[in-house]
Amino acid sequence: MKELVALKSASEIAAMRRAGAVVAEMLERCSAAVRPGITTADLDKIGADVIRERGAASSFLGYYGYPATICASVNDEIVHGIPGRRKLREGDIVGIDVGAIVDGWHADAAVTVPVGKVKPEAAKLIRVTEEALRRGIAAARPGARLGDVGAAVQRYAEAHGYSVVRNYVGHGIGRAMHEPPQVPNYGTTGQGRPISVGLCIAIEPMLNVGGPETRVESDGWTVRTADGSLSAHFEHTLAVTEEGPVVLTVPAAVQARAGRAVASASARRAAAAQR
Ligand code: MF3
Ligand code: CO
Repeated sequence: MKELVALKSASEIAAMRRAGAVVAEMLERCSAAVRPGITTADLDKIGADVIRERGAASSFLGYYGYPATICASVNDEIVHGIPGRRKLREGDIVGIDVGAIVDGWHADAAVTVPVGKVKPEAAKLIRVTEEALRRGIAAARPGARLGDVGAAVQRYAEAHGYSVVRNYVGHGIGRAMHEPPQVPNYGTTGQGRPISVGLCIAIEPMLNVGGPETRVESDGWTVRTADGSLSAHFEHTLAVTEEGPVVLTVPAAVQARAGRAVASASARRAAAAQR
């Protein structure tokens, strides 16, 4: 049986956008605090503060018993690192992954940030992973297929010599953090489920300097590269609209600017149609 994908209406997408603004603020404030000496638990507290200030709830806390508000994954940790007393050190890279629920709607996003000055290899891995996400998002146009998204991410990552993690994938998102369909970061152009208007997904490439194999630590959560190589992770939640993909996990101020741009573009179209 084909899994059921819940397509979202414009008003449902607007609700998810409010969760996305909280997620973006969490990432901004956590990222701004990253410096040598700060602990990953300190970052978790910053994330929890934003959730509380905005009257939101965490998508992660309590999810299958997950004990924190954010995930903080350092160096060879790929995803799902549990915040704790570990101090970040100059030269580390840290993946920060957060999710928020507003009025029952989820948004989910992640960034990887350098701690102080990092080696050029680490900086490049971060840049390439973020650009791979951007390319994956751009491929999520109505009428395209999910394989186009995975292929766009994979092609760019592998062209730079990095491997794409297979054991963890992106996902549909909405009333639940994880909904069908799965959104792999690898694939074949023209294959997979068609992408239609109203589809809301989280795309989240995880790129490794070494091989793609993963290992879960004894805490039951932290996922590392099997070969100990460096890994980076970026994620956005997006909605597919008639106009194309729209990223929902952006700050409220950016959403307001984009909203005005969309409004004036449709006003221009309407005026042009009158002539
Ligand atoms: N962004 C992660 C994902 O999509 C969520 C972290 S899992 C949790 O898989 F357990 F921490 F919630
Ligand atoms: Co996710």
